[in-house]
Amino acid sequence: MRTWCGEVRETDIGSSQSIAGWVNRRRDHGGLVFIDLRDRSGVVQVVINPEDNAEVHNTAHEIRNEFVLQVQGEVRKRPEGTENPQIETGQVEVVVKGLKILSECKPLPFMIEDDTDDSEFLRLKHRYLDLRRPVIQKNIILRHRTTKSVREYLDAHGFLEIETPVLTKSTPEGARDYLVPSRMNPGHFYALPQSPQLFKQILMMSGFEKYYQIVKCFRDEDLRADRQPEFTQVDLEMSFVEKEDVMTLVEDLLKKIFKDVTDLEFKEQFQRLTYKETMERFGSDKPDLRFALELKDVGDLAKDSSFKVFLGALADGGLVKGINAKGLAGYSRKELDDLTEEVKTFGAKGLAWIKVKNGFESPIAKFFPEQTLKAIAQRLAAEEGDLLLFVADKGKVVNDSLARLRNELGKRLNLIKNDTYKFLWVTDFPLLEWNEDEGRYEAMHHPFTSPADEDIEKLLSLNFSDPELSTVHRSLFTEVKAKAYDIVLNGFEIGGGSIRIHKKDIQDKMFELLNISADDANSKFGFLLEALEYGAPPHGGLALGLDRLVMILAGAQSIRDVIAFPKTQKAVCPLSNAPSTVDGKQLRELSIKLDVAE
Ligand code: AMO
Ligand code: AMP
Repeated sequence: MRTWCGEVRETDIGSSQSIAGWVNRRRDHGGLVFIDLRDRSGVVQVVINPEDNAEVHNTAHEIRNEFVLQVQGEVRKRPEGTENPQIETGQVEVVVKGLKILSECKPLPFMIEDDTDDSEFLRLKHRYLDLRRPVIQKNIILRHRTTKSVREYLDAHGFLEIETPVLTKSTPEGARDYLVPSRMNPGHFYALPQSPQLFKQILMMSGFEKYYQIVKCFRDEDLRADRQPEFTQVDLEMSFVEKEDVMTLVEDLLKKIFKDVTDLEFKEQFQRLTYKETMERFGSDKPDLRFALELKDVGDLAKDSSFKVFLGALADGGLVKGINAKGLAGYSRKELDDLTEEVKTFGAKGLAWIKVKNGFESPIAKFFPEQTLKAIAQRLAAEEGDLLLFVADKGKVVNDSLARLRNELGKRLNLIKNDTYKFLWVTDFPLLEWNEDEGRYEAMHHPFTSPADEDIEKLLSLNFSDPELSTVHRSLFTEVKAKAYDIVLNGFEIGGGSIRIHKKDIQDKMFELLNISADDANSKFGFLLEALEYGAPPHGGLALGLDRLVMILAGAQSIRDVIAFPKTQKAVCPLSNAPSTVDGKQLRELSIKLDVAE
């Protein structure tokens, strides 16, 4: 029916073309009618002259935005002074000889423009219109190019794309499951996979050696700009590998994606930091390394003060850390209050500040000997005009709140350059995390992650039924490292993986440590545990969060902008109205009775 609108060029001048697409805009200029006709490839200007064709000219007046047209016409150079260098077809226009309205369009609920502040709900409700916006089209096309690049690379490296079930059992990735009732087995439920973790490990035990899948994962958790209830992973697993093999492969894959999609080349090895170091220096295991602003522990200095808040936190085994907000000593009370609110959302009880301004100006200065203030200033590399900010609390609160503050300051101080990309591998994660509420350990990644070699003997030698063991200090276990690694890009965790446990005795020990009974382990992951006893190769892998990666590649602010049909913060799809109620018959077939208020 047509050639591409966006590809008409000066070389086509004089030729006759058939084009089709949507009316981006119609402008009447005296007798002449101009239409910007848009298809996926771009926009071209179409001119209708009443003197050429009165009938077509009459039809042109009925045309509204987003009508679908087919146009026959002749390409000509635009008259001098009317060229538009902003668009690729800006030197030419198509003079209409014939025009057909292929489809009409009702008045639009919103304008189809790149910059829009229309409510997201409205845009998602009419996602078919929203998706016509060139920015979103560009994002979705970029996503296609990313997955194409992934497939090329992994295929060339001997990976097989293998599908795993969607109706399955719970996978322990730490979120709540989405459940699906089974009609054939009343009272029984499938869980949608939080990841293909168990199946990909089984595929290694089945001898496939290199697996990958671009796969939907489902997690019922609180949503944010970088979290969706269903999202996509580039999931991979390899046999007979060590940590370095997986990391090298993924690093090369990411470099190829960037080369293919953005034409940027990364020659250097990605930076690496241990979990311990990144937490100390940035308060986060996914720091944005596009700017410095490191956190400094000042606990050893704060203990020389008489400030109760700091002393109390230290006495409780907590931390006092600070950050230098360069050059912000001029901040007003209100601005300081805003920053305080920022840290309070992460549980901090307050934000102490010292302005370096002809000495030290601070409500807490009176609690500190002068030389301590100087030592603190020196540790934070403070100069005249700087603002020093401190949080004292439990380690987690201090790190979470200051990491958040660090990001906020990075923005306020304009330290983040667009189009820069800083990759970081975070390694040597602790194997376990203490869950305060439940009074037990949890796996920091998942329970199939291998402990570091040097810690395996120690773990195996522990007798968990020994009552003495409960009195052993918790730090004994938090020192144990895992063979786990995360890949971080510009402050986002874009992937994570590990070398897995491939020996039954270690896996059993792991469950003991996590306080998961043998019965429980068997009922949940029995199939994996059994397979471990039939010749399991050493194996490991990683999963990239595709949505997050594409969001960063596209320079988008939310993963919703790189997903064709995303859900809102409330996990709703305004387009299809999912989730919805179902009728009584369906529920009876599923043997389900509802217990919800009308
Ligand atoms: P993990 O849980 O770290 O690892 O997930 C891998 C990556 O998936 C992305 N991601 C998400 N993206 C959008 N919305 C979400 N709700 C969401 N949750 C996670 C992140 C994350 O780094 N089975 C292991 C991988 C392995 O060990 O091989 C796993 O799922 O970018
Ligand atoms: P107060 O003595 O409670 O008035 O607090 C004095 C200053 O210390 C105020 O600026 C508070 O915001 C700050 N502050 C209070 N609690 C903390 C805390 N846990 N960490 C850091 N600063 C705090």
